[in-house]
Amino acid sequence: MSVREETINEIKNRIDIVEVIGDFVSMKKVGSNYRALSPFTNEKTPSFYVSPSKEIYKCFSSGKGGDAISFVMEVEGINYIEALKYLAAKYGIEIEEEEQTDEQIQAQNERDSLFIVLNFASEYFSKLLWENEEGRSIGLSYFKERGYLESTIKQFDLGYSIEAWDGLMNAAKEKGFTEDILEKAGLILKSENKVYDRFRGRVMFPIHNVAGKVIAFGARTLRSDKKQPKYINSPETDVYHKSNILYGMHQARQAVRNEDMCYLVEGYTDVISLHQSGVTNVVSSSGTSLTKEQIQLISRYTKNITVLYDGDSAGIKASFRGIDLILEHDLNVRAVVFPDGEDPDSYSRKLGSEAFEKYLKEKAQDFITFKTNVLTDGGKQNDPVQRVEVIRDIVESISLIPDGIKRSVYIRSCSDQLKIEEQVLISELNKILIANQRKDRQKVQQEQVVEQDIQEAVATPEQQVVEHTTFYVERECLRMLINYGAEPYEENLSIGEFIMQETADISFEHPEIANVYQTAIKRLSNGQSVEPDNFISPEDPQTSQLVIGLLDMKYFVSEGWYERHRIHTSHESEDLPKATFKIVLRLKRKKLEALIAENDADLKLAEDAGNIIELENLLKMRMQLKSLYDQVTSQLGIVVSK
Ligand code: CTP
Ligand code: MN
Repeated sequence: MSVREETINEIKNRIDIVEVIGDFVSMKKVGSNYRALSPFTNEKTPSFYVSPSKEIYKCFSSGKGGDAISFVMEVEGINYIEALKYLAAKYGIEIEEEEQTDEQIQAQNERDSLFIVLNFASEYFSKLLWENEEGRSIGLSYFKERGYLESTIKQFDLGYSIEAWDGLMNAAKEKGFTEDILEKAGLILKSENKVYDRFRGRVMFPIHNVAGKVIAFGARTLRSDKKQPKYINSPETDVYHKSNILYGMHQARQAVRNEDMCYLVEGYTDVISLHQSGVTNVVSSSGTSLTKEQIQLISRYTKNITVLYDGDSAGIKASFRGIDLILEHDLNVRAVVFPDGEDPDSYSRKLGSEAFEKYLKEKAQDFITFKTNVLTDGGKQNDPVQRVEVIRDIVESISLIPDGIKRSVYIRSCSDQLKIEEQVLISELNKILIANQRKDRQKVQQEQVVEQDIQEAVATPEQQVVEHTTFYVERECLRMLINYGAEPYEENLSIGEFIMQETADISFEHPEIANVYQTAIKRLSNGQSVEPDNFISPEDPQTSQLVIGLLDMKYFVSEGWYERHRIHTSHESEDLPKATFKIVLRLKRKKLEALIAENDADLKLAEDAGNIIELENLLKMRMQLKSLYDQVTSQLGIVVSK
């Protein structure tokens, strides 16, 4: 569906960002702005700001920022249109959604038709479960035997598909849905001369997206017939990308946010049973290994994941990759293992709500304990060679955590638990960090930016490896310019002017950064000041987004408060000239690196061509570049391991 331009404008005009965000976080007024604990991280000190006058928010702990619409998208995990709908509903603005006649169903864009047909199918299956004789006697009685309450069955929209080749197909065609759309929704299958329902004679588990729309189905057979697969699932479609979806997220997200923790289980039935036992902050990866997208989805609501494992799960070791992936995304992970032969579904029913919740709380282990137990078979095995492997394995996992402080906490815990000197672990860790960093250099720049800070904390200053990507240094330079352009660098020279001088003959590689940078420089050379406000406007969301990302906390708080709370802000503010100087040097160093690489390539060409004169010139240039590079490097005072 698309929303009419006038409606979008009406929504935008009515939005009060403080009101919108206030529905999700409780804020306190500081000066003309508002402050709150970030809804995106589990921070203890509030660093989430809202500026009513600029109609923007900025979260300093996650770096996220934007307008009210992008906030709703972020916090609810929904797309632009869905966010508009949410806001329209909040402000009682009507979005015309047409009556669904046959023609319109086809006229609407395909994604929407998919949602509509999938919703139709879900209602059809659940109607069969409750009202059809076969559905009741086979499907409903199965769920009841499993101990599902009627309210639970309804909450998850469970259903039943009858034992027929064309049950859904006929009902859908009657409503005007085409075979084409049914096929695209993954509901029917076509072979050479046959068209037939994908789901037949199975209990149906609709899979919802975060906003609550049905996007796919899991269908469980009730036969013990081994030739039949236990589950038949929807294929990938335009609206269902398995790796982006977690079963139960729609029903769980509020609880996940409230509890600030998310349980992760294997299957549909585990999610449902846990809900019925009162544990509602639970989602499932549907029997496949966890993906990066799924972790990112969880991280919108909480930074804490507890993975629940079947007692006899042969897959526990295989699941280590999932744990590492969680750590890599800077989330905290714990694990609970169930007794032999039990899974979360069976065990929650066996223990009952209270005892089960207690079990979860008491048995949750941090990943070090968990890995140690699994790798040493609960401490039964203890030969030295294996011990070394266990330690290495755990340090590898720790090395994945982006946050240096967290890393050092885990190193200490590992040292305690495995009875091994902290220093040994640290040097092992540093080895891995440095090796990883080398690998990283080949990775995409954007990705590297996130890992920029990976090296600090645990390493001592001499061991620190500072390697920055071009994108990072360019962005940093722009950040100084925008936030502190007007502050003094030295007598009669502002930071903005200093940056302008020093970067006059440097070209910025990244177009969006270059763009803002040039505008800023133009202002400066016209004698105008440079402030974030010059670049933030609803008319240019892209530039706004970039600049909001660069904002310093100073932008949101009064001078006095800022002075008193400097401790919470980056310490660069204590010595801005020094910070600026360093950033400019880093930029230069990066640019020199590029020039040296270019020179390298030219040298090779000249060599191949046997062009002695050219070769000599290039070598001279090479020496100059190298000496400049060394100079900059030593001014930066950094030790680079190569
Ligand atoms: N699964 C699947 N296809 C299969 C088997 C399993 O997609 N052939 C997925 C389903 O999401 C399932 C999960 O893996 O929920 C866990 O599998 P399993 O424990 O076998 O199924 P349960 O749903 O727990 O079913 P039950 O408890 O009834 O055995
Ligand atoms: Mn199971």
